[in-house]
Amino acid sequence: MKPFIYITRKLPEAVVAPLKSEFDVEMWEKEDAQVPRDILLEKAEKASALLTMLSDKVDRELLQNASYLKVVANLAVGFDNIDLEAAKEKGVTITNTPDVLTETTADLTFALLMATSRRVVEADRYIKEGKWKSWSPLLLAGTDIHHKTMGIVGMGSIGEAVARRAKGFNMEVLYHNRSRKPEAEETLGVRYVSFDDILAQSDFVVVLAPLNTETQGMFQEDQFRKMKNTAIFINAARGAIVNEAALLQALKRGDIAGAGLDVFETEPISEDHPLLQLDQVVALPHIGSSSKDTRLDMMTLCVENIQAVLKGDNPKTAVK
Ligand code: GLV
Ligand code: GLV
Repeated sequence: MKPFIYITRKLPEAVVAPLKSEFDVEMWEKEDAQVPRDILLEKAEKASALLTMLSDKVDRELLQNASYLKVVANLAVGFDNIDLEAAKEKGVTITNTPDVLTETTADLTFALLMATSRRVVEADRYIKEGKWKSWSPLLLAGTDIHHKTMGIVGMGSIGEAVARRAKGFNMEVLYHNRSRKPEAEETLGVRYVSFDDILAQSDFVVVLAPLNTETQGMFQEDQFRKMKNTAIFINAARGAIVNEAALLQALKRGDIAGAGLDVFETEPISEDHPLLQLDQVVALPHIGSSSKDTRLDMMTLCVENIQAVLKGDNPKTAVK
């Protein structure tokens, strides 16, 4: 019997074809809806490999009953949806998709920053709703980006790629990270400061840290109060790094001026969520790495990682 591979979302046939020649491959039938939990558990019990989305919970319950499972290839750089400890105990290899999405995610992060500060989405809505009656001097006046200070929280490769873009805008770039990055300081001219200094000094606070026990709930009421009231908060990492109720209050009180959010505590966020009622919030449906080329590269990398592990080789991008 050929090893069974379960893919939790409908992916293009061309991407999965290389797996189909060697393995018994099944995909969840929908492209735009998540596989139900009970089906995922049932498939995992038979599977030698899973190709998962960041919205699938690969927890102890799933791993415990997955007796044949050798590898979980997660279609994301983040892997907070996976219980790494349980996977290790079970000898299951976890892979993610770093590097291939770095520049694409940095592009989106910068697009979100620019859209939020120059009110691009609001302006688009304004014109399409027929509100543009005359040019006027302060119409939709926003905040400058060039020559301002950006503070990056989480200086991984995406952070560095965002910093390079910021330098092209003549911005000063501060960063805070678990470990210092002397090479980035040298080559990019970024400056390491404490978390409190990032909050106090930045015009743009940009979150690019992975979600883990250290970063969960890192932004609470206190942190927003320490920011400039002209500051713009950008989150392109994970929603749970931020207390969303605290963010909402900070925006309403004017502790900060705006927020650009690609990620939320609960995804999908519901359209009547109070954050989405604010003009100074630009919201995107977790599309950081979503260019066609990059998403295909990520899928291909998942396929290659699965092939490697099932052949007994080292995968290209194992986690840890
Ligand atoms: C997206 O959020 C990712 O982790 O790749
Ligand atoms: C940020 O999440 C990174 O890994 O660069």
